[in-house]
Amino acid sequence: MLLSVLLLMMMVISWTEAVYTGVVMAHTAKDVQGNSFTLVRRYRFGHSSCGETDSFLSCSGCTQKIDESSGEWCLREYTSWGSRSFISYYYGLNPGTWINNKNGISIGLSKMLVEGRKRSDINRPNSSPKTGILPVMRVPSNCQRNISLLTFDPDGDHVQCRNGSGSSECYTCTPPSVLSLSSSCSQSFTPTSSNVEGSYAVQLIMQDFPRQTITLTHNNGSTESISSKISMSRIPVQFVFKVDPAAPSCTAGEYLPRFLPPTPEHGAQFFINISETIEINITAEATQSVITELLFSGPFSMTKSSSGSGNFTLRWTPSVNQSDDKESHPICFAVQANASSSIYQSELRCVIVRVGNIPFIATPSPPTTSRLTVLKLKISTTLSLKDNKDEIEKAIKDELISRGLPPDIKVRLLSDGSVKVKETAAP
Ligand SMILES: *[C@@H]1O[C@H](CO)[C@@H](O)[C@H](O)[C@H]1NC(C)=O
Ligand SMILES: *[C@@H]1O[C@H](CO)[C@@H](O)[C@H](O)[C@H]1NC(C)=O
Ligand SMILES: *[C@@H]1O[C@H](CO)[C@@H](O)[C@H](O)[C@H]1NC(C)=O
Ligand SMILES: *[C@@H]1O[C@H](CO)[C@@H](O)[C@H](O)[C@H]1NC(C)=O
Ligand SMILES: *[C@@H]1O[C@H](CO)[C@@H](O)[C@H](O)[C@H]1NC(C)=O
Ligand SMILES: *[C@@H]1O[C@H](CO)[C@@H](O)[C@H](O)[C@H]1NC(C)=O
Ligand SMILES: *[C@@H]1O[C@H](CO)[C@@H](O)[C@H](O)[C@H]1NC(C)=O
Ligand SMILES: *[C@@H]1O[C@H](CO)[C@@H](O)[C@H](O)[C@H]1NC(C)=O
Repeated sequence: MLLSVLLLMMMVISWTEAVYTGVVMAHTAKDVQGNSFTLVRRYRFGHSSCGETDSFLSCSGCTQKIDESSGEWCLREYTSWGSRSFISYYYGLNPGTWINNKNGISIGLSKMLVEGRKRSDINRPNSSPKTGILPVMRVPSNCQRNISLLTFDPDGDHVQCRNGSGSSECYTCTPPSVLSLSSSCSQSFTPTSSNVEGSYAVQLIMQDFPRQTITLTHNNGSTESISSKISMSRIPVQFVFKVDPAAPSCTAGEYLPRFLPPTPEHGAQFFINISETIEINITAEATQSVITELLFSGPFSMTKSSSGSGNFTLRWTPSVNQSDDKESHPICFAVQANASSSIYQSELRCVIVRVGNIPFIATPSPPTTSRLTVLKLKISTTLSLKDNKDEIEKAIKDELISRGLPPDIKVRLLSDGSVKVKETAAP
């Protein structure tokens, strides 16, 4: 009796395959030497469970778990780096079958265009734009929701999003009818009726455009001049958008958790060095539901902890061995709560952690409003804050310029001790 039950269970397990819930891919060009450069590729893949999700990469144990939402999804990271010559090519994978969805997408495709030709303006190949998302984004069917994707470009390029189309981007490309996407990468959901409830597969392409005409040089010497209307890299941004049953209220802080200080703002930037640890404190509240978990997408070696209701901390120490240096790493998070067995998700927030002394990039694509930059900086001085404000402002300004900020920034020391830095518009 026991034996037959056991056999049945084993068969069930082998029949159960983890289904696909999306991906974000990215590539970064580093260390140009002669006719080659170091290319770092990072993929963050979502599947419905953590087991057996390596197999599609035709490697075993080559991915590392980032985070999971109990019984719903598992997010894993795959990183590769190696020496490449100056060519451009598509790199793609078949991640399996999508989770059941209302827009009828079945077979998944995760493919990015790596623009590895040398750019005339920066003297190295392009790095793709960067963003992050959770594998499953949820909203009650009666609530308005905007998902404004982080659009960060390591080279300061202009970033745009569009629906995936064509056989190199998706096998079936039907966009979800309930989400409208703008080219600035924000997507909005507007409540219509409860019959839109269910899961949708979202398949977007994020791409970067140079700010002026540049020349791309191939390994074999051939060149191509591209204007600011021609895109360079293309990365897939795919996830599940889940419309849940209606909530008793859509006000953030009641059923839907609401972020409170000191949670960093969407788009905030942090600066650290290799072997230093970054700590991000996140606080959320919900008066009519119970906050159960923090969900995040970030480097796999990032850890999360909770110190009581609604208080969470993300910690990460970049390591030399994972080639984390001289790179900007997107980190996205949301808080989930439940009440009467319904699940409520907060808005998504994303921040950037910049590791090592890399040139400061002046303008991420919009929205640029209320961008908070957090810089760990220590300037020792015997000057008094009251009497030597100008000198202190100058010292801070010099330090920021030495870290790559444009020389025409304006620095103001405010009475609450914070520092306001104004950048004049990029040329
Ligand atoms: C969502 O975006 C639209 C268009 O940009 C805006 O009108 C609306 O107020 C936003 N809604 C929320 C909840 O932020
Ligand atoms: C993407 O497709 C949706 C649905 O067909 C459409 O409303 C939207 O305008 C498209 N967005 C872009 C940026 O092409
Ligand atoms: C260099 O390679 C590109 C891409 O393979 C090709 O289109 C081009 O014709 C080649 N140019 C020369 C000069 O060989
Ligand atoms: C990182 O290390 C460099 C070199 O040691 C140092 O100059 C810089 O101030 C450090 N940056 C931060 C953010 O600690
Ligand atoms: C995060 O919160 C803990 C506990 O409240 C505190 O000790 C720590 O200084 C905070 N870290 C930051 C970076 O604010
Ligand atoms: C959560 O964090 C907030 C703000 O840092 C603090 O006031 C509160 O006491 C913390 N609560 C718990 C349960 O740790
Ligand atoms: C990094 O790699 C070196 C050489 O392979 C090894 O000795 C060291 O232990 C590694 N450090 C970490 C933190 O993995
Ligand atoms: C919330 O979820 C947890 C874990 O799934 C469960 O144990 C708990 O009973 C739920 N609470 C409510 C109020 O539904």
